[in-house]
Amino acid sequence: MPSIVSDPAAWKKQRAALEGTLGFVPTMGNLHAGHMALVRQAKAENDHVLVSIFVNPTQFNRRDDYNAYLRTLEADYALLDGEGVEFVFTPDEKAMYPDNYEMQVNETSLSQELEGKFRPGHFQGMLTVVLKLLNIAGAARAYFGEKDFQQLMLVKKMAEAFFLPTEIVAVPIVREKSGLALSSRNNRLSPQQREQAVLLSQLLRGATANDA
Ligand code: PAF
Repeated sequence: MPSIVSDPAAWKKQRAALEGTLGFVPTMGNLHAGHMALVRQAKAENDHVLVSIFVNPTQFNRRDDYNAYLRTLEADYALLDGEGVEFVFTPDEKAMYPDNYEMQVNETSLSQELEGKFRPGHFQGMLTVVLKLLNIAGAARAYFGEKDFQQLMLVKKMAEAFFLPTEIVAVPIVREKSGLALSSRNNRLSPQQREQAVLLSQLLRGATANDA
């Protein structure tokens, strides 16, 4: 089983004693094959791997959505164990927000467009927690899926703007046979919504193939 750490200060101490490079995979848990692709790439490119599991309240713009987010810690640990992950970081809200949510990262351009238009505050909350996690992790590289492309672009932009020492690595999308991108949120779709999601994904991929 991976070693599980919940206290940021305890992890920093453990990290300082580790030799070699660290690859970091931030997640909100409810892990699937898409996350495992991030983990495998992190393992291949680093001496050690840390995965964080934290359902970040500030990136949900609706409380009911935050409450409904699936928490599957025991199954997540088992999957990570199967991949040979050494360390898991599972902080609680108090550990991550000792400032009572008063400090936030505010990006004023890309975060306001596309998904940002429909989920006010989402990217601000995401960037805030990712900055905290990157500072705690102390990794050489951090891995993000191309599935959340706007998120990936924003994290890269933040790393550059704030001169962060961690390299942000993009990992290709993992898809179901149907073509639908793997996502923890797919578990919450009704059969009819799932059909619509598959159709939408096929239409989008058809449209981009026709463009090429
Ligand atoms: O992509 C996610 O799972 C989350 O947005 C992240 C990067 C772990 C931050 O909470």
